[in-house]
Amino acid sequence: MAERKAFVCGHPIAHSRSPKIHGHWLAEHGIDGSYEAVDVALDDFGPFMQSVRAGRFVGGNVTIPHKEAAFRAVDRKDEAAAGIGAVNTTWLEDGLLCGSNTDAYGFAANLDQQAPGWAEDGSKAVLLGAGGAARAVLFALRQRGFTDIRIVNRTRARAENLAAEFGPAISAHALEAVPDLLEDAALLVNTTSLGMHGEADMPLPLERLPADSLVTDIVYVPLRTPLLAAAERRGLKTVDGLGMLLHQAVPGFEKWFGVRPRVTAALRALVQADIVDKAA
Ligand code: ATR
Repeated sequence: MAERKAFVCGHPIAHSRSPKIHGHWLAEHGIDGSYEAVDVALDDFGPFMQSVRAGRFVGGNVTIPHKEAAFRAVDRKDEAAAGIGAVNTTWLEDGLLCGSNTDAYGFAANLDQQAPGWAEDGSKAVLLGAGGAARAVLFALRQRGFTDIRIVNRTRARAENLAAEFGPAISAHALEAVPDLLEDAALLVNTTSLGMHGEADMPLPLERLPADSLVTDIVYVPLRTPLLAAAERRGLKTVDGLGMLLHQAVPGFEKWFGVRPRVTAALRALVQADIVDKAA
């Protein structure tokens, strides 16, 4: 069989760690394939997807700023893509360009691996942020049976729109409401860019969280965000966001190369070293 070629496209794309992840798996499984980063400017996205449809690649990942355009460009989308409204994974099937969104899967799979049982008694969650990443987390939380999800966002109207779209179990709040919302929450998730690259700390009263609650951040640069550091100081369970990045790559690799890869300590160490290097 000819070499199977996959891609990640975005703009900019140089920062993407996906080639490292897929390159590791290709080598691990001895697969005759490639995974390359392609810088695709906004205006070039349509033609690029046409070239994918024509067979230039077996499929690939789509990242910022093209995830919504990819949602519109695919011929067929799965339930996760439809629910989240964005596509990050594409592949050819029956001559059609298909799209999925694996961020929700990645979020849940990371917690399954790092904090088994996290969703078992998890009826109440507080979700910080109302952007694209929050949509994926919301989808995952609903799928895992959370019945009371409180979205908190600087721009409350954005949280309200999201809550209205995702249904009655979800409520929208302004930042001032956070202390009371934390009181009985099993899970606190940050999806905002606060705390990235040493941006201002988030002054959250984590002491209001129950002692057995779990705190997770989907930001992974730095790995130990100010929120996670504060949660650790309070003795709360924490999970960092690197695992979400690794796990969201699994379904795409399986589609393109026919092997379901594993998220191992070796893979994590490889990508973590890259983050530590570049974040310094
Ligand atoms: P993504 O797709 O990564 O979620 P996004 O759609 O730009 O990115 O959303 C970023 C999120 O971080 C939003 O919830 C944003 O809040 P607003 O909707 O009010 O803009 C939040 N965010 C970014 N910077 C912030 C800041 N300095 N303080 C509070 N929230 C912030």
